Amino acid sequence: MAGLIPQDFIDDLVARADVVEVIGRRIQLKKAGREFKACCPFHDEKTPSFTVSPNKGFYHCFGCGVHGTAIGFLMDFDHMTFVEAIESLASSMGVEVPRNESDKPARRYDELFSLMTQVEKRWQEDLRESQTAVDYLKHRGIDGATAQRYGIGFAPDGWSALLDKFGTSDEAIERLLATGLIIRKDNGGHYDRFRDRVMFPIRDSRGRCIGFGGRIMGDGEPKYLNSPETLLFHKGRELYGLWEARQALRQIDRLVVVEGYMDVVALARHGIDFSVATLGTATTDEHLNRVFRLCDDVTFCFDGDRAGRKAAWRALETTLPHIREGRQVQFAFLPDGHDPDSYVNEFDADAFIKVLDDGLALSDYLIGELASQVDLNTVDGKARLAEFAKPLLQKIPAGVYRDLLMGSLADRVGLSAEKLERSIGQGPRNAGGRSPATRGTTTSLGRRIAAFSGKPSIVRRAITLLLNHPEAGAKLDVEKLEDVGRPGIELLLRLIETVQEDPTITTAGLLERWRHDDEGRHLGKLAAVELPNDEEFDPAAELHDCLDKLALAGRRKRVNLLIEKQRVNTLSDEERAELRQLS
Ligand code: UTP
Ligand code: MN
Repeated sequence: MAGLIPQDFIDDLVARADVVEVIGRRIQLKKAGREFKACCPFHDEKTPSFTVSPNKGFYHCFGCGVHGTAIGFLMDFDHMTFVEAIESLASSMGVEVPRNESDKPARRYDELFSLMTQVEKRWQEDLRESQTAVDYLKHRGIDGATAQRYGIGFAPDGWSALLDKFGTSDEAIERLLATGLIIRKDNGGHYDRFRDRVMFPIRDSRGRCIGFGGRIMGDGEPKYLNSPETLLFHKGRELYGLWEARQALRQIDRLVVVEGYMDVVALARHGIDFSVATLGTATTDEHLNRVFRLCDDVTFCFDGDRAGRKAAWRALETTLPHIREGRQVQFAFLPDGHDPDSYVNEFDADAFIKVLDDGLALSDYLIGELASQVDLNTVDGKARLAEFAKPLLQKIPAGVYRDLLMGSLADRVGLSAEKLERSIGQGPRNAGGRSPATRGTTTSLGRRIAAFSGKPSIVRRAITLLLNHPEAGAKLDVEKLEDVGRPGIELLLRLIETVQEDPTITTAGLLERWRHDDEGRHLGKLAAVELPNDEEFDPAAELHDCLDKLALAGRRKRVNLLIEKQRVNTLSDEERAELRQLS
């Protein structure tokens, strides 16, 4: 987790920070009951769905789903890094950030960044010395200027080129490990992660190198090796080429999202400076937040093959909650067998732009794709089209765009828009409906979310209770959860452990503890659930109840297993005794 700044300092800081003041200094907040609200600063809206809860130390937007603590707000709104946000918060509260110098010097962010820069430079020098690598890039149509613009380099073959050069002390080795540049062997030694590969530096929004992708020059697996998740690098957030695009263009009017490093570089080589690539992952909400913060016109460009079509549909589903008036989203498909790199090299930039211009508007793509799955000449087919469209349309925030789409769809199925609207239902009011915790509920500001509608799991319920009322977990008995093998149970146990070790921790504090953890994003959504606020509501009792139910479910599962063993005659004596006791 956080590393260089002591965790208890961060806990304390977020517990004492006044989230209302931090946010209120930047946007205007209005009091609404226990909470404060405003029009969301992260997306366009006319009615406020952005809520700040002083008790939880937490903000959440019911429209676009953003959420976080005071630290998170500073990071997103003021574009600060994690450490900068902590420093800013601390200085506004008049406290000094302590540094664990002796503890983990390797984890100082500035030192990690500086290491990345040195390594990047080194690999650029190595590229100049390797004729093979230079030839490879030439053969792929990349000229020197483009290679330089993207900082492309070459990691020479050998197991310890980087290690020998940079791993000159224990601290230096720690830093190489923390940035994922070397790998630890079982016997305690280390070796270079990237060997004999063409290296693409991946940059954050300020142009700092946070990770690398390395391409093998011949055949071999994996084709691309990427930096692992590190303190600096989170794959699902970053877009390759975004910083370079911002450097090249004064104003970004349009972005095209492609799949590969080479696609971005090849397009740039041909003068198309506005492409970015996801890093081998599907498009995420975080990608889209970034992209839409920069411009309103986004084209996804996919290969024309089946995999490309599948990826396009997934991108469409992720995009729906981000649709607003004024935003344009297109889907462009290349001929089968081509990717942007091969296409722009075989034809030219104009031909590629034409492919983009021929792309389908999101609405046409959506309706066309659904219509191709049914027979629109039959009543049954029309009904099915409406049925298919329902969950998709419900993801789109209410507004002009959704109405237009509803109108086109109504035309296709030969119903009036009103009738179709009624059959599809209202969906979330001015809300994206992205968060599973709020899906299917009539989420509107100030109204209590029917917290546990739609049968969420008991584990999820327990986590929600604990996040919202950390103090209620003080006396929970975790032992009885030992054998409950359910999804999420590990996370629940870690949360309980944390609140028991640190009884004063707040909702925001818990979220910060999990910031650098994949599960963190999930937790934010659960922390946004509004629980009842009346006398009868007893979160501690509810939590005990959840744990009892889980323990019971665990016992049942065990009994069933033992009965099955008994049936096939593989029950040991101990197990027989256990079964007798349990049942
Ligand atoms: P592709 O396999 O489409 O590669 O992967 P590409 O971009 O066309 O690469 P070239 O043209 O063969 O050099 C698309 C993206 O998926 C990720 C990379 O980000 C790549 O750019 N990927 C692919 C990996 O991370 N690892 C792999 O082994 C393959
Ligand atoms: Mn390619």
